[in-house]
Amino acid sequence: MTETVQFPQGLPTERDAGPFNPPSAITRLRETRPVSPLTFPDGHEGWVVTGYDAVRQLLADTRFSSRQDLGVLHVPYETPGMPAATEPSPQIPGLFIAMDPPDHTRLRRKLTGAFTVKRMRQLEEHIVEVVERQLEEMTRLAPPVDLVEHFALPVPSLVICELLGVPYADRETFQVNSAKFLEKDVELDEKMAAYGAITGYLAELVTRKRATPDDDLLSDLARHDDLTVEELTGISFLLLLAGHETTANMLALGTFALLEHPEQLAELRADPGLLPDAVEELMRYLTIADIFYRYATEDVELAGETIPAGSTVVVSLLAANHDPARFDAPDTLDVHRRSRGHLSFGHGVHQCLGQQLARIEMRAGFTGLLRRFPSLALAVPADEVELKTDMNIYGVHALPVTWAGTAP
Ligand code: HEM
Repeated sequence: MTETVQFPQGLPTERDAGPFNPPSAITRLRETRPVSPLTFPDGHEGWVVTGYDAVRQLLADTRFSSRQDLGVLHVPYETPGMPAATEPSPQIPGLFIAMDPPDHTRLRRKLTGAFTVKRMRQLEEHIVEVVERQLEEMTRLAPPVDLVEHFALPVPSLVICELLGVPYADRETFQVNSAKFLEKDVELDEKMAAYGAITGYLAELVTRKRATPDDDLLSDLARHDDLTVEELTGISFLLLLAGHETTANMLALGTFALLEHPEQLAELRADPGLLPDAVEELMRYLTIADIFYRYATEDVELAGETIPAGSTVVVSLLAANHDPARFDAPDTLDVHRRSRGHLSFGHGVHQCLGQQLARIEMRAGFTGLLRRFPSLALAVPADEVELKTDMNIYGVHALPVTWAGTAP
């Protein structure tokens, strides 16, 4: 097969196979050619990787550079105004998600101590408190209530703000602007303006913390003399954005998925011991952070194809996690499944730094929500739930829910 796939409108995002499955064109591509040449809308040639083994191998191979999509700014080539590809993008200080070793290693190493499993376990009790407080507030509201606004977004925002030492009262600045980078059809200029608004705020904050450190993660980082204020700002931005947008979408979309699979939900309610596995399965099944970009620094052989040096490579974690070669009946949500090995937190040197934190938040979040709202239900027909196909992280814009009574 020598055909190059063409997606003149950019990669398909419409969920034509249901809200939780990959777009059918992506599934077809994985079935026919899991490492496939691709022509981008601007005409330049690249590759798209959709098979589980190939994606995993690619993510573990540092010949595929991460200096490709300006990291969490998610400014891929479909974005109007993006400069031509085929060369590494400029580095933004501190945004180590878009750096390669050794720059990446130097910065990530400063944070690994703060995100160990042990440190995260110590936070667990506090996270449970945050969840319970938020749920308590929700019980006082008259349904229907938007679960995103009252639960899914505040919980991770409160947790990451407290961990970093960012005043939660200032959340408007980062919540509104961070949505801008994650929106797909926003011009580069506008994204950069939103980035400027948040980083202006964060630069002041880290400068203050450097002068008078407090008891929080950003103050600890600010104590490192070898980090510049620009780097501290970039790191804070990355942690703040990655720390709230992702988990918020998992809590909301995960709840939607469970409500749409009542038999799975009933099993989970009957045996809360299933929850840790169910969280992994929801992570796999939903893969909210789907598309990542890499750049081949040399010719690399992958699944029998040669990806030439200089190629832009698009990776679909969602397609990989729905690969039947790795997971039986992958388009089925099964809370009993052993889903470990899913790629939803990435793989290799960039594997998600906050994954333990995210897991604790999701376990506490779903456990609390299911316990306190035994009759939780959608307040609108499922096809009226607005999906985030217009965003770089998948989820729901709002999730109107209702209930008949609450439990203590
Ligand atoms: C990296 C997903 C929660 C911080 C990543 C990557 C993925 C991911 C796929 C790899 C990116 C790549 O290879 O280019 C998720 C999902 C989450 C989540 C699905 C929630 C369910 C969090 C949280 C934090 C966080 C709570 C909090 C601090 C980061 C950071 C990186 C990262 C700093 C960059 C790591 C590096 O480049 O070395 N995440 N993440 N994430 N994540 Fe998460």
